[in-house]
Amino acid sequence: MLIRVRGDLELRSAAPAHAPELDALIAADRERLARFMPWAAGQTIETTRAFIARALQQEAENDGFQAVLVVDGELAGTAGFHRIDRANLSTSIGYWLGSAYEGRGLMTAAVGALVDHAFRAWGLHRLELRIAPDNDRSRALAARLGFREEGVLRESERFGDEYRDLIMHSLLASERS
Ligand SMILES: CC(C)(COP(=O)(O)OP(=O)(O)OC[C@H]1O[C@@H](n2cnc3c(N)ncnc32)[C@H](O)[C@@H]1OP(=O)(O)O)[C@@H](O)C(=O)NCCC(=O)NCCS
Repeated sequence: MLIRVRGDLELRSAAPAHAPELDALIAADRERLARFMPWAAGQTIETTRAFIARALQQEAENDGFQAVLVVDGELAGTAGFHRIDRANLSTSIGYWLGSAYEGRGLMTAAVGALVDHAFRAWGLHRLELRIAPDNDRSRALAARLGFREEGVLRESERFGDEYRDLIMHSLLASERS
C-alpha cells in the first residue's frame, strides 16, 4: 500500500525494514508519546517488530493496514486502522507523529487520506477516533477533518493501574466533503 498524500508526504505499509527507524523515533519521544499511548512506555525493538508483523497479517487478511508516514524520505510516525467492522461498515484510526514533525499539517493530511481511502476504496459508513480529553492537538486534528464529538467513553483506556476516559469522535461517509 502506497498513498502519495502530498509532495513531501507518503503513506507506506509498515514493513520489517522500518523497524529500526521506527524504534528510534519512539524511543527519542517516549515520554511525550506515552502520555497518550500506553504502549509507548514499554516499547522495544521487539515490540516494534511484533507490531509490524501483526500489521502485515492484518493487511494480508484485508482487515485494514498500518502505514508509516514518510516525510521527504524520513520516517515521521504512523497512522493506521484498528481492524474493520464489516457488519457495521466501520473502523477506527490511530496515529502518532515524532515531535520534530508536528505543526506542519502532516497528520491532518495523512488521516484525511486514510478517511478518503476508507470511504471510497472500502465503502465504509462510519469512522471513529478515540481521543483523551486533554489531547488538544489530536482533538484539533479531529475537528479539522470534520469529526464530531459524541461523548465520553468512561475509563476505557488502561495506563498501568489506572483507567482514563476517552472522547469518541466520529465521521460518517455522508459528512465527508
Ligand atoms: C496528535 C498529533 C499527531 C497531532 O500532530 P499535529 O502536528 O498537531 O497535527 P498536524 O500534523 O495535522 O499539524 C497541525 C498543525 O500544523 C499546522 N498546519 C500547517 N500547515 C497545515 C495544513 N496544510 N493543514 C493543517 N494544518 C497545518 C496547524 O495549524 C497545526 O498547528 P498548530 O497546532 O500550531 O495550530 C501529535 O501531536 C502526536 O503525535 N501526539 C502524540 C501522540 C498522540 O497523541 N496520538 C493521537 C492519539 S488519539
